Amino acid sequence: MADEIKSPQAKEQAPNPSKTGWTAAEAPAPSQGQAGEFLPSISPDMTIQPLDDIAVSDTVHLGEPIIQMKNIVKTFYIGEPNELQILHGIDLTVRRGEFVAVVGQSGAGKSTLMNIIGVLDKPTEGDYILDGVDVAKAKDRELSSIRNDKIGFVFQTFNLIPRTTALKNVELPMLYAGISRGERMRRAKELMALVGMEDRMSHQPNELSGGQKQRVAIARAMSNDPAIILADEPTGALDSATGRMIMDLFHQLHREQGKTIVLITHSNELAAETQRIVTISDGRIVSERKGMA
Ligand SMILES: Nc1ncnc2c1ncn2[C@@H]1O[C@H](COP(=O)(O)OP(=O)(O)O)[C@@H](O)[C@H]1O
Ligand SMILES: [Mg+2]
Repeated sequence: MADEIKSPQAKEQAPNPSKTGWTAAEAPAPSQGQAGEFLPSISPDMTIQPLDDIAVSDTVHLGEPIIQMKNIVKTFYIGEPNELQILHGIDLTVRRGEFVAVVGQSGAGKSTLMNIIGVLDKPTEGDYILDGVDVAKAKDRELSSIRNDKIGFVFQTFNLIPRTTALKNVELPMLYAGISRGERMRRAKELMALVGMEDRMSHQPNELSGGQKQRVAIARAMSNDPAIILADEPTGALDSATGRMIMDLFHQLHREQGKTIVLITHSNELAAETQRIVTISDGRIVSERKGMA
């Protein structure tokens, strides 16, 4: 898949490095497991077959499994007396190009699962193959590069870097990936246009509405062209009209860019718009059903 963002609105603007460029020394350090952590991305190999029972465009098909989890258990405070098992044996397969919703009540273990899917945390037991890589066998260093290469994270509370322009927020993962300043700016501007934020590039997060912040966060999640977008309650802090717009953006990334999306949501209506709804209760998958997408 081409790493160009296909956006009719994308404007080619002359980069102005002296104004918006960052040097590695100036950039905030990526923090463990936080929004700055996800990095460069290899364009996924989209060799894929169509799924007959789901209406998909000619260019976006479901492919081979990209997330394969078998009997995933997560226990906190291992050992007596406070041991707390949160996930009790999750089997989950997500195919490349699939749009899946994970629903369940507060405390069900959705974020715990998302952290494992996103390689922000390790399972206590079980097997997890992410895009062909056995996560349990990978070294920490490999794990951070897997996370950085393959996954774009979107959080309920946006997790943008404060006092930093929207454009630089989008550039940051590319900076960590070693992409040149000119290319970072070019792509960040393209992504800002893709999410309809081309007129807010120099705004800082505190000058943006919640919906605008989330759009910037989505542009940032896309910056290294990850195979998978992992979104944990991305509309949870937004009013329903704004949440609707954010959801439309996920549909667009799925449809037009072939992204695999795992969306954690409280909203049954939003979940129903995806291709598959996985319900978690008390750390177990209790149902899976087909969605409308
Ligand atoms: N780091 C942790 N240490 C101990 N308990 C945790 C930790 N993270 C989550 N939990 C517990 O795991 C359960 C599930 O949490 P979480 O995955 O955040 O649920 P959800 O996202 O579905 O609301 C909760 O009871 C929570 O208190
Ligand atoms: Mg949660």
